[in-house]
Amino acid sequence: MLDIYKLGDEILGVRCTEVTDFDRPLELLTEAMFETMEEAEGIGLAAPQVGVDKRLFVIGIPAEGIRRVFVNPQIIETSVEEGPYEEGCLSLPGLSHEVIRPLEVTVFAQDVHGKAFTLHATGLLARAIQHEYDHLDGKLYIDHLSPSERKHMVELFERRQKNERKGKSRRRG
Ligand code: NI
Repeated sequence: MLDIYKLGDEILGVRCTEVTDFDRPLELLTEAMFETMEEAEGIGLAAPQVGVDKRLFVIGIPAEGIRRVFVNPQIIETSVEEGPYEEGCLSLPGLSHEVIRPLEVTVFAQDVHGKAFTLHATGLLARAIQHEYDHLDGKLYIDHLSPSERKHMVELFERRQKNERKGKSRRRG
C-alpha cells in the first residue's frame, strides 16, 4: 500500500515528467498503484497521487472488465458532446462534485512494457481517463468548477481533514 497524497500536497500541482524507462521498478510501481487504488475503492489513480512525478495512471473498473495502465498518455480526440458526472477523487476523500466533460475520448498511450496503443473510450472509462489525465498536468477535478464552487470544495476538504485529525487524537487519548 502506498500513501495517497491529498489536496494541498505540492506534487498534485506539478506537470509530471515523461516515463522513459520501462523497467521492473515501473512494473512494481503500477502493481502497487492498482493495490492502493483497489484498497481505497477508487476506479483510477495517477502517479502524482502516490507522490511519483511520472506521466502514468491506472484505471480499474471491475464491472466493465477494465484494468489498464496508461503510460505517457495523450488525449488525441474528444467528442463535441459534453455531459455532467458526479466525480470524486482519492486525493479529496469523501467529497464529490458534478463536472462537465466531453463524453468520449480517444487516447494514445503506452502500456507498462512501452507498447503503444490507441483506445476509444465512452462512458465511465472516458470520464476516468480525463480525470486521471488531468492529474498528470497538476490539475484536479475541482479546477473545472467556478471559483466559488472550488473555494467551497476546498473548505469542505479542510473541514473534513480537521475533523479527521481530531478523531485520531481522541482515539489515541
Ligand atoms: Ni483524482
